[in-house]
Amino acid sequence: MSITQFKRYTVTSALPYANGPIHIGHMAGVYIPADIYVRYLRSMERDVMFIGGSDEHGVPVTIRAEQEGVTVQAVIDRYHEMIKKSFEDFGISLDVYSRTSREVHHETASGFFKTLYEKGIFDEIVTDQYYDQEKNTFLADRYIQGTCPNCGNPDAYGDQCERCGTSLSPDELINPRSRLSNTALIKKPTKHWYLPLDKYQSELESWIKSHENDWKPNVFGQCMSWINQGLHARSMTRDLNWGIPVPLPDAEGKVLYVWFDAPIGYISATKEYFAEKAEQDSNCSPDDWKKYWQSKDSKLVHFIGKDNIVFHCVIFPLILKLHGDYILPDNVPANEFMNLENNKISTSRNWAVWLHEYMLDFPDKQDVLRYVLTANAPDTKDSDFTWKDFQTRNNSELAGNLGNFVRRPIALTHKHFAGQVPPRADLQTVDLELVEELKTFPDKIAEAIEQFKFREALALVMELSRLGNQYIQKTEPWTLFKQDPENSLPRIGTILNLGNQIIANLAIVCEPFLPNTSLKIKQMLNVEKLLWADAGGIDLVKPGQRINQEEILFDKIEDSAVEAQLQKLENTKKANEMASKTAEPMKSEIVFDDFVKIDIRVATIKAAEKVKKSNKLLKLTLDTGLDVRTVLSGIAKYYNPEEIIGLQVCLVANLAPRPMMGEVSHGMVLLAEDKDGTLKFVRPETLVSNGSTVQ
Ligand code: 2FM
Ligand code: ZN
Repeated sequence: MSITQFKRYTVTSALPYANGPIHIGHMAGVYIPADIYVRYLRSMERDVMFIGGSDEHGVPVTIRAEQEGVTVQAVIDRYHEMIKKSFEDFGISLDVYSRTSREVHHETASGFFKTLYEKGIFDEIVTDQYYDQEKNTFLADRYIQGTCPNCGNPDAYGDQCERCGTSLSPDELINPRSRLSNTALIKKPTKHWYLPLDKYQSELESWIKSHENDWKPNVFGQCMSWINQGLHARSMTRDLNWGIPVPLPDAEGKVLYVWFDAPIGYISATKEYFAEKAEQDSNCSPDDWKKYWQSKDSKLVHFIGKDNIVFHCVIFPLILKLHGDYILPDNVPANEFMNLENNKISTSRNWAVWLHEYMLDFPDKQDVLRYVLTANAPDTKDSDFTWKDFQTRNNSELAGNLGNFVRRPIALTHKHFAGQVPPRADLQTVDLELVEELKTFPDKIAEAIEQFKFREALALVMELSRLGNQYIQKTEPWTLFKQDPENSLPRIGTILNLGNQIIANLAIVCEPFLPNTSLKIKQMLNVEKLLWADAGGIDLVKPGQRINQEEILFDKIEDSAVEAQLQKLENTKKANEMASKTAEPMKSEIVFDDFVKIDIRVATIKAAEKVKKSNKLLKLTLDTGLDVRTVLSGIAKYYNPEEIIGLQVCLVANLAPRPMMGEVSHGMVLLAEDKDGTLKFVRPETLVSNGSTVQ
């Protein structure tokens, strides 16, 4: 079906787990592409529903609660709000942002399960499942860890290996262990309800193959590799205490599998939206959600990351099909992953650019991030975000090309025409060429967007801006004015009229990508509404129209801002290194009498100086309460002599004198050695008398 054959669009964006904040990888992979597509459709005056929400079930949220030592409810409340705010901050124009913990969703998901159950779809199977004897519980796949049979990763999860991306079942793991107790697991029988994917293998295969030409090659390829490996039945229920209870009498302690309920969340969110809308709008009915999910003239598009492909291209479509009342996805434009400074983005290692932190560091640069994440999107293969590239793209592409162009016709319109758009006189060849070329852009950009080639579409937007810059450069209105101030105004007027038309065109075509910039441009031009249908034309701003003063669209990003971000990542790297180092193993046991042989005293540093020819040693003069003596200590790298005078330290006072670097040390100062080798004095908490014993 071509775009015009669909009456409406149901666009979903993967429901993020409410177990942490959102980072640039999520944005580049899912939410910005989805938003570009939806904004474009709205500009085309299409009927669109853009759906999102938090995925609040499943093990990721329970694991987070355990890590934070709080309730699961507290985790989902916190992150739901945080994620919602990030989407708002970055202009992700969702019509609804719901939560899978809401009643409407529990009802909808239970309803789906019951329908499939009553149709006899599920196979009821008792199997032996992994059981943690120490915690007295069956374990969800995510709570089981072991070695990946595919790549040897020793920390693969029971549902997936995060290193090689292989989807796994716990039985495939080598040496499975419990993440809760870190103990080996036993098996115990338990009953579950399975979706027999294998029975529908050939149906699924022909459906997927029917999309060979319209699905992205990475998506189609991954689906076919699944199909070719042969599909297996998958359990749609779990032994878990967090989730939607299985709506059957003999299912105590069992909940729906999160990947059964989460995609149904798209439907529940649509129901929630229309239930609320119907209360305020009498033209609207609570049943309007059905049009978006059950009507064949609706186009369903799922935006997801690559790790979600099988769920959206195989399992969820099969559930929709077996239910019987629903349309199937028309497209599933999944992206690959984005790395950060050449390393995989990782929540647990804090290797990410978090949106809430970006907002603090660059509070007015949301469009810059949207731009960089789109220009460098992981649309066909993994991509890499670097802060240097962020700076370059801002300074030379956004400020240097787009910002620079928009500024010029607006400033000149104020200079020569008191801020009123001048009329056009006869067009010359250079103008006619511009007008012809301008006309071609909206369709080219639209085509790229409809094919989910957002990177290419954005490059075309920037190409249009470049065209504008070249036009002004070629026609040189400032030179015309200098040469003949009296008679050049009609020609300058023509150039500026066209210049303003290009700006208006840019406001339309950049809107899906850079909504704040588009708004600022419209405010400068003093126009309210511009739609895609207007693009390509040269009568978007009328002669005589008053425009506002120019506004700087993009400030330069200084080196210092980039350095600060790199420093932050450097600190993260160091913190990770420290955390990964384990403490020194304990020495062999001693008896109390061994300990009391060591006479440790508190002493005050009276003088300190560097030891010649040594970059490690400081020579300290200590008042020990017993005497005043010289002690050498290997702390020169960590303390300056002048800053330690007057400090109290602890001294092994009865250590036999030791010659060192031409001096003699009478004792040893106690030091704590951190994991990175840094040394610090061990000191009494408050001032005590010199000579006090340490015991
Ligand atoms: O991978 C994830 O973050 C999942 N929470 C995505 C779910 S998408 C949909 F099915 F809800
Ligand atoms: Zn692996």
